[in-house]
Amino acid sequence: DRPADRPADQPAACPAAAPELFTWEFATDPYPAYAWLREHSPVHRTTLPSGVEAWLVTRYADARQALADSRLSKNPAHHAEPAHAKGKTGIPGERKAELMTHLLNIDPPDHTRLRRLVSKAFTPRRVAEFAPRVQELTDRLIDRFVAEGKADLIHDFAFPLPIYAICDLLGVPPEDQDDFRDWAGMMIRHGGGPRGGVARSVKKMRGYLAELIHRKREDPGDDLISGLIRASDHGEHLTENEAAAMAFILLFAGFETTVNLIGNGVYALLRNPGQRERLQLALGSGESGLLETGIEELLRYDGPVELATWRFATEPLTLGGQDIAAGDPVLVVLAAADRDPERFEDPDTLDLARRDNQHLGYGHGIHYCLGAPLARLEGQTALATLLTRLPDLRLAVEPTDLRWRGGLIMRGLRTLPVEFAPG
Ligand code: HEM
Repeated sequence: DRPADRPADQPAACPAAAPELFTWEFATDPYPAYAWLREHSPVHRTTLPSGVEAWLVTRYADARQALADSRLSKNPAHHAEPAHAKGKTGIPGERKAELMTHLLNIDPPDHTRLRRLVSKAFTPRRVAEFAPRVQELTDRLIDRFVAEGKADLIHDFAFPLPIYAICDLLGVPPEDQDDFRDWAGMMIRHGGGPRGGVARSVKKMRGYLAELIHRKREDPGDDLISGLIRASDHGEHLTENEAAAMAFILLFAGFETTVNLIGNGVYALLRNPGQRERLQLALGSGESGLLETGIEELLRYDGPVELATWRFATEPLTLGGQDIAAGDPVLVVLAAADRDPERFEDPDTLDLARRDNQHLGYGHGIHYCLGAPLARLEGQTALATLLTRLPDLRLAVEPTDLRWRGGLIMRGLRTLPVEFAPG
């Protein structure tokens, strides 16, 4: 009785014994293990696969508090064992100093300054104006496989959509976007792929972005990179290094997350036919409310970011009754917090119409996801278009044959083979 054999509409039972973390079974379905941790060891010390020791925070109330606690720094220099953890914070190429100073690695006041500057360029209005382009990209990708009657929704759809979308938004010319797709593909294969390949891809991307920023400075357009260069606050601007790091983090933070929002989201719908039918009916009658609450519910139910990115205690503190020493890494397990029965009614049930759904899938506090409006736009467009154009979409393999990527921060499928009536 492997975890993946459990029907999707049955609650994840809390196992009787302490679960083993980071195994193949855990990657397939971590929720029973998280139920155990929430109940028996809510702030839990563990050794990560990399050998680094860290605290896992699994209850909603503790998680929300930790995400907003200024004593938990994002700066890896506060790690008690920085040398040991070097290059293990989850972002490929992070050891390169030029790309280090990005939003997810810094604290106020630097964070406040950079976030204010980027927010002037990456506005909800820019995202709203981008909606027709996202629809066009979505349709173009579906056009490529619709006649086949089958596809791998990760490879053919969820993977290319966000990379082309972010490239367009940043102002990467169309003829260069396939290079980006290939470099990003190398980065996403990080876990199993050749490390040298990852380093080379990051290097190429870095070089490309530096050159693009240079070109946009000479010849600005109305793209996001030109906006980043133009943005100023009390006479302050981003330096070229800061602009390159910002473009890189937008790509990195907005890419695999969105791949997994689409992949995990479609998979959850295919496993919950009643919910999927309700959504299709709503879409058919032109009602968008269920799509909007539904995307939030999919983020809560099986979101792309399993663990928030690293935090380090700058002083001794107590969290959920547990003493944490200065220098200790703290990982907030968003996926566990968002299934906490203390906060959500029937947390293991997918309910697309769920109200009162303040999930932590986009984080909380000053590092709350900057790209949430874009993620919502891409998620809603992707799911609505797939379900409308491929109404009989179904899994082409048994759920037990699916493989999940074993990464620490992200949760997502390697492949998602589907079938449908050719169009
Ligand atoms: C931060 C989730 C899409 C850009 C975050 C954080 C989470 C998150 C949980 C906070 C991490 C922490 O506190 O450690 C997601 C999810 C997405 C998504 C679930 C898709 C469904 C995007 C997109 C972009 C983006 C599309 C941009 C193009 C960012 C940036 C930050 C961030 C720049 C850092 C903000 C800061 O530190 O101030 N995201 N994200 N994200 N996200 Fe997203």
